[in-house]
Amino acid sequence: MKSETLQKARDFEAQYGPHIPDEERPAFHATPTIGWMNDPNGFSFYKGEYHLFYQYHPYSNEWGPMHWGHLKSKDFIRWERLPAALAPDTDYDGSGCFSGSAIELPDGRQLIMYTGVRRERNSEGFIHDVQTQCLAVGDGLDYEKYEGNPVLDAKNLPKGGSAVDFRDPKVWRGDDGAYYAVIGNRASDNSGTILLYRSEDTLNWEFVRILDASRNQYGKMWECPDFFSLDGNQVLLTSPQEMVTVGLEFHAGHESICLIGDYEPQGKGFIRKQVQAVDYGLDFYAPQTLLTPDGRRIMIAWMQNWNTIGAKPDYCRWFGQMSVPRELSVRDGRLFQMPVRELEKYRGQLVTHRNIPVSGEVNLPGICGRLVDMTVTIRPEGHDSYRWFRIHVAKDGEHDTIIRYRPDQGTLKLDRTRSGLPYDIVHTRSFLVRPLANGELKLRIILDRFSVEVFVNDGEVAASAVIYTRKEADAISFEAGGSALMDVEKYELLFE
Ligand code: FRU
Repeated sequence: MKSETLQKARDFEAQYGPHIPDEERPAFHATPTIGWMNDPNGFSFYKGEYHLFYQYHPYSNEWGPMHWGHLKSKDFIRWERLPAALAPDTDYDGSGCFSGSAIELPDGRQLIMYTGVRRERNSEGFIHDVQTQCLAVGDGLDYEKYEGNPVLDAKNLPKGGSAVDFRDPKVWRGDDGAYYAVIGNRASDNSGTILLYRSEDTLNWEFVRILDASRNQYGKMWECPDFFSLDGNQVLLTSPQEMVTVGLEFHAGHESICLIGDYEPQGKGFIRKQVQAVDYGLDFYAPQTLLTPDGRRIMIAWMQNWNTIGAKPDYCRWFGQMSVPRELSVRDGRLFQMPVRELEKYRGQLVTHRNIPVSGEVNLPGICGRLVDMTVTIRPEGHDSYRWFRIHVAKDGEHDTIIRYRPDQGTLKLDRTRSGLPYDIVHTRSFLVRPLANGELKLRIILDRFSVEVFVNDGEVAASAVIYTRKEADAISFEAGGSALMDVEKYELLFE
């Protein structure tokens, strides 16, 4: 039975969504049908297609009572819009259906596990959340909430765990046939933990253990966990709130981190070995992954930052977009990510330039555009080897977005100061990169109408940023202080 609240959201998006012209949206990055989008939810393979749900407030371009919007795709690149899947319409989730995940049940139905939020006044008179975990089951289009909701609440928390910050279940089926879920929580030290739960039937859950904890080292509340094995390692992703800056590795505010280690389910549990940022750019949060039928681990994230959500074009009818889905691997203890290979199907004409000397500014024939998949390889040249190298994209007389490499510092800087945003927010981010063994630096740059994503040295480092530069600003140029040699391989991306 569809509630009035869900029907109202479906009617609203069906009426107003189609008013937004395609050219006012990214060409291949997922956006909400109308209104506001944040975290990816329920990213899953179901009945031969990839489903992507998202935190959704259709009625304005701001965060509000959370619904679940719904998209699906055969290839991660072209998304088909489906009607909203969940609305905040019960006593346990009336203040919001927060983030969660989805899997296929043995009987062929799809199970959604999400956080239901109810607001209450606490003993000090303040309104606070009560967060519980809830289920809904459906067929890829319509979902019915479980009459026994919530299935996990304050009773299931370990000692000291917070019932106010208990959210974002990521569920999967283990090799033993049982179901497991990781859930973000806040411990009595006021910082984040990841809780592991187990169930035989998805309805009755038991607490297993605390998988890992911030202990006030990596921010406060840990949101949106994911936990999976990859290339012989165990990976825990989470998005901490209130991080503080650490060198060029972690920036302040909301950040996504990747903890890599080993997993001994019967023994010590998760044994953390390395911690790194997931994306070193300006806009990336709450990543979630799925496993494709051919065994690839694919990650998608909200390409936005909570700290800059006020910076949006006036009267925009959609706000928030997803990153390009990325194929993950772990090499030498580091997380690597590259755009899904399906993107390559949309490559049009190739323009190649090899061994181009760059000293001062260079423009090259055929190298321009705003829907672009371009790889630039830079190497030192001669006695006056370059001290800095800049790639300008989305450029006209007044605008550009700059990717700058400083070999002496080993840093790359992403700078969207001149990308059309009329707000005094953080516009630059610098991070560490290292040249390949042969001294080259290789940058794959993916441009869509409203974003730049950079993948360094086959995915060792990734950095993403939203831009709002006018679409006519489509020049690309290269510039060096000193001399460099460069190869450029540029495809335009075509989405007819
Ligand atoms: C992360 C988050 C989640 C929560 C959702 C609410 O961005 O705060 O923890 O479930 O957004 O929209």
